[in-house]
Amino acid sequence: MAPIFHGTIQVRDHHLENFSDSMHHQTITPLVTIILAAGKGTRMNTSLPKVLHNLGGRSLLDHVLETAVSLGTGKVIVVAGHGAEAVRKIISKKNGDLEVVIQEPQLGTGHAVSQCLDMLSGFHGTVVVLSGDVPGLQSETVRNLARVRIDNQASISVLTGRLEDPSGYGRIIRQPDGAIQEIREQKDLSEEQGNIKEVNLGVYAFDASFLSRELPKIGSENAQGEYYLTDLIKVAAGSGSGVVSHSAADHTEALGINTLEELSGVGKMTNRRYLEKLMSSGVQILDPDQTWIEDTVTVEPDTTIHPMVFLRGATKIGAGSVINPGSVITDSNLGARVEIRPYCVITDSSIADDAAVGPFAHLRPGTDIGPWARIGNYVEIKKSVIGEGSKVSHLTYVGDAELGQDVNIGAGCVTCNYDGFSKFKTVIEDGVFVGSGTMMVAPITLGKGSLVAAGSTLTKDVPPDALAVARGQQSNKEGWAAARREKITKKSKKEKS
Ligand code: UD1
Ligand code: MG
Repeated sequence: MAPIFHGTIQVRDHHLENFSDSMHHQTITPLVTIILAAGKGTRMNTSLPKVLHNLGGRSLLDHVLETAVSLGTGKVIVVAGHGAEAVRKIISKKNGDLEVVIQEPQLGTGHAVSQCLDMLSGFHGTVVVLSGDVPGLQSETVRNLARVRIDNQASISVLTGRLEDPSGYGRIIRQPDGAIQEIREQKDLSEEQGNIKEVNLGVYAFDASFLSRELPKIGSENAQGEYYLTDLIKVAAGSGSGVVSHSAADHTEALGINTLEELSGVGKMTNRRYLEKLMSSGVQILDPDQTWIEDTVTVEPDTTIHPMVFLRGATKIGAGSVINPGSVITDSNLGARVEIRPYCVITDSSIADDAAVGPFAHLRPGTDIGPWARIGNYVEIKKSVIGEGSKVSHLTYVGDAELGQDVNIGAGCVTCNYDGFSKFKTVIEDGVFVGSGTMMVAPITLGKGSLVAAGSTLTKDVPPDALAVARGQQSNKEGWAAARREKITKKSKKEKS
């Protein structure tokens, strides 16, 4: 693998545009970031490798990658092992100078970083190490951590925090004068040290030369028999250059995830933070404890969101809309003053201004609802365009169809779009009225202004302005039902007597 050059490496990424303080960021270069993501996550007790677990719509690793890339400086190396193929896939979708290094077997955090030493040969600057299981970390915190190391000319700066419940974390052991002496893992603590509430949040900035020189020397004589990256703290503490700590302004951003319970806790916190941001921007959220909005979703002011709503992915919601209880909206674009009535599932669709959908509607991928259109209860729509002001109000399936303006589809209609092999298109032009219970066998076109009698099964195109009737003739047999009733009554009387 190519060694890293001494100098600033440009990263092509949109986050660069967001830099408020470019001078500040200049001063932490040259910088290389390593993300540790090879572990299995034994304490999760799941088959999925830990860093691939989902938090707010993307993997834990995705969150950390965003932080690393938004530092806007230098190479990012991801150490992968368990789930390496999935890790590669995630990385291939990101912009930036990203590289994957495989750690096999996984012998601890120190061993993980040592897999990157070849790539660091000849590099003199700062090496930031992030954990793939700390998804909330903000790039500003990392930048400050690197700054603190450089300003103090220290070998290491480490991010620390005070936790009410520090169990599971490595503890910061300080000398009487306050200087950091070492970091001890939970399993290697004495009873007394167990009371220390200052923890290692697992985020570091190293002097690259110190790292390259000292990391190969650490051993694995500890309770877990692993090579601990944290052993470097006492090495630096013992040498002249030393260790400095930096505490995050809000340490909750640096909470690590080791169990599903912690994942749930951090997930709730992350969600809450985004909801608060939306509320302060003028979005009314009735019950933030029961509303889930991924931070990739945008919502305009004056929109109201009821409980048990999930908004996901690249969803956008315009101003003055109302999303009623129980709806799940994914990757969809809603205009202004849209009303989503209770319990709708909407995926990869768009809904124009002033339209109303639901209750109990299912909009599947490729649905495009026009302005002022009305989609009612128990209606499923797939890959179809519904024109302005059109109504599909009850118990209907519309698939692979194109509806013009002011079309009215009655209750219980079906576009029969599939013959078991191929999908066919239904075109319903402006102003068509389709009576209830109509089957439209595609491919088919219903011409502008035409009318279809209820209960029809259409297999041929309907010309514009025509009436189509396509149903069996009805024959009535006078008195037949009454005669049958009489016959049955007589028979049952006989049996009883
Ligand atoms: C680590 C720290 C601990 C700190 C905590 C903060 C060590 C020895 N301990 O403990 O002091 O309080 O983080 O969250 O560093 N990984 C690899 N390869 C390995 C082992 C781990 O890539 O061989 C990766 C994991 O995938 C994970 C990260 O390193 O993303 C941290 O590993 P984890 O096992 O969670 O360490 P902790 O026990 O949390
Ligand atoms: Mg951890």
